[in-house]
Amino acid sequence: MSSTLNLGASVKIIDVQKHFGRSRSRVDVLRDINLEIKQGEFVALLGPSGCGKSTLLRLISGLDTPSLGSVTIDETVVSGVDSRCGVVFQEPRLLPWLSLRDNVELGANLNPEKVDVDALLARVGLAGFEKSLPREVSGGMAQRASLARGLAVNPKVLLLDEPFAALDALTRLTMQDLLLEVTRESKTTVIFVTHDIDEALHLADRVVVLAQRGNGIDEIVRIGVEKPRDRSHVDLVPFRNELFSKFGIHH
Ligand SMILES: Nc1ncnc2c1ncn2[C@@H]1O[C@H](COP(=O)(O)OP(=O)(O)OP(=O)(O)O)[C@@H](O)[C@H]1O
Ligand SMILES: [Mg+2]
Repeated sequence: MSSTLNLGASVKIIDVQKHFGRSRSRVDVLRDINLEIKQGEFVALLGPSGCGKSTLLRLISGLDTPSLGSVTIDETVVSGVDSRCGVVFQEPRLLPWLSLRDNVELGANLNPEKVDVDALLARVGLAGFEKSLPREVSGGMAQRASLARGLAVNPKVLLLDEPFAALDALTRLTMQDLLLEVTRESKTTVIFVTHDIDEALHLADRVVVLAQRGNGIDEIVRIGVEKPRDRSHVDLVPFRNELFSKFGIHH
């Protein structure tokens, strides 16, 4: 992996709205979204299915454009796919005809620094599978290859859409710690979509809770506990309770 520090970038989401379709079939997905994310900050996005989390990541990465408002990265407006962003999608989206190594190489080619792709694959637990095709590995392995491809870009802003959803519980914890370690070293700004409150609590500096589709941000919770965190730290309890009760679950 590249040893150069990328030092992250600030991200501002300014009065963003996004709708799909027009007139009677118009669906308002995001409304009045305002969020300032600092360089090197780790933000988790939480919210009910269909509330617009993936849509918001697409707007930040420039894969789609807001209907109103704008997104800036280091004060420049995102217009078109932004090379400062690395994206790990909700589904692995590997090219089926390329080996895992060649898929990760695609990310590495976007990085001006030389990347040791095999070391990166080993780091996500895929040593020995470099030559495998995506269909020859499990869903969780493909997802880890996709994470390696995102990291190989050495992005200033790393956008991850439920990247660990298909992993078994233990691998998931290992990958969370790997992600923390890698992004802390380079002070990468991270925006991480998850449905898992404990995952958000372990990783995030702030948790942004989106309301139901079209209703904007419900709440922003700053997790005031030093990182790296002990998963069972008593200081996390009030934050966990707050987030669970947001979703109507009382402990
Ligand atoms: N290209 C599109 N055209 C029309 N509607 C869309 C499009 N993309 C997303 N939507 C709609 O926007 C809403 C939000 O979708 P999005 O994928 O962002 O939700 P999400 O919060 O990521 O959900 P999940 O947790 O299930 O992944 C959904 O109602 C979806 O149908
Ligand atoms: Mg989604």
